[in-house]
Amino acid sequence: MSLPNPRIPRHVAVIMDGNGRWAKERGLPRVEGHRKGAETVQRVIDGCIETGVEFLTLYAFSIENWKRPQLEVSALMRLLIEFLRSRHQEMLDKNIRLRVIGRLSDLPLKTFAQVEKSINATAQNTGLTLILALSYGSRTEILEAVNKLIAQAPKAPVTEEQFSRALYTADYPDPDLLIRTSGEMRLSNFLLWQMSYAEIYVTKKLWPEFSREDFLDAMRDFAQRERRYGGI
Ligand code: FPP
Repeated sequence: MSLPNPRIPRHVAVIMDGNGRWAKERGLPRVEGHRKGAETVQRVIDGCIETGVEFLTLYAFSIENWKRPQLEVSALMRLLIEFLRSRHQEMLDKNIRLRVIGRLSDLPLKTFAQVEKSINATAQNTGLTLILALSYGSRTEILEAVNKLIAQAPKAPVTEEQFSRALYTADYPDPDLLIRTSGEMRLSNFLLWQMSYAEIYVTKKLWPEFSREDFLDAMRDFAQRERRYGGI
């Protein structure tokens, strides 16, 4: 077994921002931005496989996104189904294991069913773990964990390790690198506990135009960071 390379992030998390702006700039409906954004998803998945990233978490739909117009929400849910259906064979061929985090009971039945189907079909794969954050909110996740731990042992002090294991992300290492597109300097309620020591890479590029080369730039930037985790 080879040792992990500290220059390559084991876990990359991505805030895929700017689909709406990309569409607006072209006079297209916002949904077209999301559609184009799904192509970027595939490029980034391939980039991760190529560079040896083990976990990729994509912020595909936040809890706050339910407040968007009904038409946009249903288009995003359909897009997700379409993506998983059309890439089914590819995920098997590329040895990708699909997982999800979030409040999955919020999802429409059809979306939930497709997600479950893809998770089951790829469960035995041993390559890249692709984690979709769906109806995800970090504060909700933290509160769910707190309440779960209180219910289990109301008075026992909790360790960091126990707390991490009560989160949706219990099975995964913390992200090493966060990529955010479209220039915004925010975490937007994404993996707040888990990203305590993540390196943050923000690019002005909008998500639909984020290229393979842009992904490799983020990886090169990460490789040059000196990670000290609060030490010297
Ligand atoms: C943010 O852009 C993006 C989203 C809320 C949805 C992300 C979804 C995709 C990239 C497509 C489908 C995903 C998968 C996994 C197949 P925005 O709409 O907030 O952009 P804006 O800030 O420019 O308005």
